[in-house]
Amino acid sequence: MSLEAVDVVAGILQRQGLIYLAQRDENRDQAGLWELPGGKIEAGESQQVALCREWREEFGVDITPGKYIASHDFVVSGRRIYLHAWHITAYRGVLVPTCHSQCCWITPEDALALPLAPADVPLIVAFMKFT
Ligand code: C5P
Repeated sequence: MSLEAVDVVAGILQRQGLIYLAQRDENRDQAGLWELPGGKIEAGESQQVALCREWREEFGVDITPGKYIASHDFVVSGRRIYLHAWHITAYRGVLVPTCHSQCCWITPEDALALPLAPADVPLIVAFMKFT
């Protein structure tokens, strides 16, 4: 039996050498793990449109998607997740987290020492090569 496939988009926002990470809330899967913020792509949405919607919903900001970075797939809770990472080149507004337990600005190197959502690790490594 083939697994349900879910496409998810995540954004990498960097400011003064630090990237923005968020910790997943207790009532979500992968609770307590740190992630590049994003979420599921809805029917008919491009990856960039989904990324803009997710950051508006989760942080109240309007972002500008930049270049595509990399993708990684994994299986969790009986579903295959295809996680696609994009660079975020700018944002307008004030970042106010509405659905994560906390957020931080951190160097990509230090981020790799945090308890990260596993699929985010290769994406952060790809970003380090990209920049
Ligand atoms: O945030 P949301 O629950 O919509 O994400 C869908 C799936 O993608 C979840 O299983 C979540 O843990 C995973 N995800 C991830 N890394 C991210 C964003 C989401 O592993 N940066």
